[in-house]
Formats: sequence, C-alpha cells, structure tokens
Amino acid sequence: MTRRDRVTSADRPTSADRVSTTPSPGHVWLDGQLLPAAGHHLSAFDRGFQLGDGIFETLRARGGRVIELREHLARLHRSAGGLDIELPTDADIRIEQGIGDLLAIEGLAGTGDDASIRLTVTRGSFMGRGLLPPSEGIVPTIVIQAWPVAPPPPGHLTDGLHLVASSIRRDPENPIVTLKTTSRADYVHARLEARRTGADDALFLTVDGHLSEATSANIVLIRGSELATPALACAILPGTTRSWVLAWAGTVGLTAVEDWLTTRELAEADEAFLCSSVAGILPVTRFDGRPIAHGRPGSLTLRARADREAFIRGEVRS
Ligand SMILES: Cc1ncc(COP(=O)(O)O)c(C=O)c1O
Repeated sequence: MTRRDRVTSADRPTSADRVSTTPSPGHVWLDGQLLPAAGHHLSAFDRGFQLGDGIFETLRARGGRVIELREHLARLHRSAGGLDIELPTDADIRIEQGIGDLLAIEGLAGTGDDASIRLTVTRGSFMGRGLLPPSEGIVPTIVIQAWPVAPPPPGHLTDGLHLVASSIRRDPENPIVTLKTTSRADYVHARLEARRTGADDALFLTVDGHLSEATSANIVLIRGSELATPALACAILPGTTRSWVLAWAGTVGLTAVEDWLTTRELAEADEAFLCSSVAGILPVTRFDGRPIAHGRPGSLTLRARADREAFIRGEVRS
C-alpha cells in the first residue's frame, strides 16, 4: 500500500483558516539521503533552526513533472545571493534528482498525482555562536519534503477569501523582504492576526499604505479591461504564478499593469484574487470586512484558475 492509498476523508481539510491537515509524509530528502520522516534529521547547530538563516521554495508537481522548476531554481539562487549563501555548484542537479526520488518513494509521481514540494536550504550547521556566519567551512543543508496537494478548504472557491490588513507594514527599501527566506515570523504573526478576526489571510501593506502581498501569495485586481498587481518595488516576492498571470492577461484581452495600488483600489475592484504555486488562483471577495464588488468570486478569476490548473495538468503550454 502506498502512502497515497492511506489518505482518508479524515485527512481532507475542513477548516477555513488553511491549517494544513494533509497526511504526514513518509520520508524527507536530506543532503542526498531519503530518511524516514518521523526521525531526527537536523543538527541543533543548524543556522536555519537557530537564526532562520536559510531560504526556501514551494513548488507543485503534477504526474511527477515539477511546474516551472527553472523559475523556482532561479529564485532560489537569487535568495541565496541575497544572503550570501553559497550553493554547491551541482545544487540544481541534486535538487532535481532529489525531488524525483522523493516523489517516487512517496507515491506522488504517478499519472495524475498532484504534489506540493518544500525545498529548504539553510546556511548549514556551525558549532560557534553569533550572527555573523563563518567565511568558510560551512556547508549548506538541503532538505526536500513533499505532500499530496489538498483541495482548497470548503468555501474558498465558492465564496472567496476574506482578507484583512496586517498590522505589520512592509518597507519597500528592505532588501530581505523580496527574498524567500526561512525567517517567517512576520508572516506567521500576520496569519494569526487574520485567524483572530475570522479572516482567511492577511494582506501586507507598505509603510505608506500601498498593497504589497498576502502571507503566501501575490494579490491581483481586475478593474474594467485591466489586470493590475503591485509592482515588484512594492516589497513583494516576485511570484512565479504572478508572472504566469501577467502573461495570461493578454490571452483574455486584459491589459496587464504593475503599479502601486491602494486599499481603495482593492475595495473598488471588479474582482480580486490571490495567486501562488501550490494553492493556484483563489478568489478574494472581502477586504477588512467589506465585500469587493458584489462579494462573489468573479468570472475572470474563475477562468484564470481553470486556465492555470489546465496549464499545471499540461493541457496547455501557457
Ligand atoms: C510571500 C509570498 N508571496 C508570493 C508567493 C507566490 O509565489 P509563487 O507564485 O512563486 O508561488 C509566495 C509563495 O509561497 C509567498 O510566500
């Protein structure tokens, strides 16, 4: 029996706050080895654990084929560069091979299998103390984990998400905020803020009140014939799905705009959605307690979701 066969209805997500209830993985890939997921894996001296001194990517694989792998690896290298983490020269090959091996042993590489993959790279383990990493003699730790993709929680597609503005503001001058680092306390705090108010997710605003991004997705508005999303300068992660969405806009006759956007523009949009690699495209229908347009998922949003899922299934090229 493969691990996927053991998925029961009790494993299906039921909560509206997106707490993961996916089944536990059987294995993790750590620096070239497939290890039982339930074991002990990392050194307590690993700087990723001690300081959040690491980077990560979250990817999706369909039928064993990793979606936009090159784009994710390019972003991983960019994040590594931002923190001066030196990746091994063969990192990409090892990672690609590791993902393949892990998906296979997890029973997630068959036709129609849909997997989410977490790739984490820390600066590595160091016995000394302090913030400044040693200039040599430290080897990055590479970890890969995989789960079956859970369907969106009930209501997320039919009713849409409710977002609230996080109390944490984003500084567009902060060079770290556009990197995918494992220092995620701000994001956890924001998600907890959302949960306390009964919302599904929190939206970060910049220090001067412009839209930035949600805790694990980019935000997109549709207004008239325009598809608008915060520009890269708005303290956002350059999302791979965001890039796909910007290209998709032209295929449905929308003009793609990357700009500084206000909360008022969100409130007055015809439609809004979040986009990310694993969750895909999810409608946003309320912001800070007020409905956006008629408060229902918009037709272009649902089309974007359907087109993106078809792309992930390999039915269309873009
Ligand atoms: C903060 C943040 N913004 C945006 C995204 C969307 O990026 P992508 O489309 O590459 O998954 C993510 C994805 O995890 C994220 O964590």
